[in-house]
Amino acid sequence: MQQVKAVIARSKGAPVEIATINVPDPGPGEAVVKVLTCGVCHTDLHYREGGINDEFPFLLGHEASGVVESVGAEVTDLAPGDFVVLNWRAVCGECRACKRGEAQYCFNTHNATQKMTLADGPDAGTELSPALGIGAFAEKTLVAAGQCTKVDSEARPAAVGLLGCGVMAGIGAAINTGAITRGRSIAVIGCGGVGIAAIAGSALAGASPIIAVDIDAKKLETAKRLGATHVVDSSKLDPVEEIKRICGETYEGADGADVVIEAVGRPETWKQAFYARDLAGTVVLVGVPTPDMKIPEIPLIDVFGRGGSLKSSWYGDCLPSRDFPMLVDLYRQGRLDLDAFVTEEIGIGDIEAAFEKMHHGDVLRSVVVL
Ligand SMILES: NC(=O)c1ccc[n+]([C@@H]2O[C@H](COP(=O)([O-])OP(=O)(O)OC[C@H]3O[C@@H](n4cnc5c(N)ncnc54)[C@H](O)[C@@H]3O)[C@@H](O)[C@H]2O)c1
Ligand SMILES: [Zn+2]
Ligand SMILES: [Zn+2]
Repeated sequence: MQQVKAVIARSKGAPVEIATINVPDPGPGEAVVKVLTCGVCHTDLHYREGGINDEFPFLLGHEASGVVESVGAEVTDLAPGDFVVLNWRAVCGECRACKRGEAQYCFNTHNATQKMTLADGPDAGTELSPALGIGAFAEKTLVAAGQCTKVDSEARPAAVGLLGCGVMAGIGAAINTGAITRGRSIAVIGCGGVGIAAIAGSALAGASPIIAVDIDAKKLETAKRLGATHVVDSSKLDPVEEIKRICGETYEGADGADVVIEAVGRPETWKQAFYARDLAGTVVLVGVPTPDMKIPEIPLIDVFGRGGSLKSSWYGDCLPSRDFPMLVDLYRQGRLDLDAFVTEEIGIGDIEAAFEKMHHGDVLRSVVVL
């Protein structure tokens, strides 16, 4: 057991605070990782606001790179000193999804069995709920060994750590869930870290046109740099009409995009995505709605009449062991600009300020350097 500094959300809506936590030595199948960097994802804010569940106190942070410090018994493919990106999909290999060769849908992903706890104060000993089973706004964290994906140690930690959540979720929403490829059109509604990653992934896959939609002009500028061929400011223009117009100009007879990604997590933007796709097109919901939100009222005949598919995408339907090293390779070759996602490097005490900047659209990612 050792004690380290970490960032916790103690109760619903309260600002995050720095606390000392106990990190157990790794047991069988576990690893302790010295965290190098951890991005601030919108999902951390959802946790703090009680939008995910009520299992406070949370140990926030889940988009991280680090170096393995120690491993427990039965860990054979990981060793102290390995440079890793942490993932929240350590697949079990035994459930029905894994057995049928679709491990990206694993029903029983692994997290550490032992609990990290608060070390000080009246509630010392209280078990922490690590965000997405990771909890990496901490000098060190305890995870299941399968949550550590080894990648090229020459890569910049702050950049490749983002593959641990938002960037992978976005790229995978386009490439894995949406199956975007050359000769297909795509529109992405919401251009934060996740949406811009979907745009970068679509560019990698050769899609055209790639239409970025946001209500914030700053985000649209970034979208252009990362591969958007067209941008639509939906605070000024109707995004459905614009997407139909742009796709129609590119492909004769097109009446929308082949794939539309919703990367905001709201009913009204999902409805835009629904009506902006072409016949037999695909909608991919990657934004996370809150539990009170409902599917907007849509005539069932419109669902039937348009065919195609309405999907959601958890973590970009990725397999970390397959996708992280491949994307780090493309980054190292200069074909995927992960550095562009790192707007600023900040300290462990700056997370509330980073949430604030996220709200105002000032950053793609603030990355905590530990
Ligand atoms: N499915 C997954 O596995 C997964 C993983 C990570 C994050 N997420 C979710 O994805 C969403 C986006 O995350 P992020 O980190 O990019 O957040 P972010 O806050 O950085 O970006 C959200 C973007 O949406 C834009 N936006 C807000 N309202 C809009 C509207 N009405 N129309 C168009 N654009 C609008 C904002 O201007 C901003 O650019 C969040 O809901 C987050 O929880 C999902
Ligand atoms: Zn499984
Ligand atoms: Zn995340």
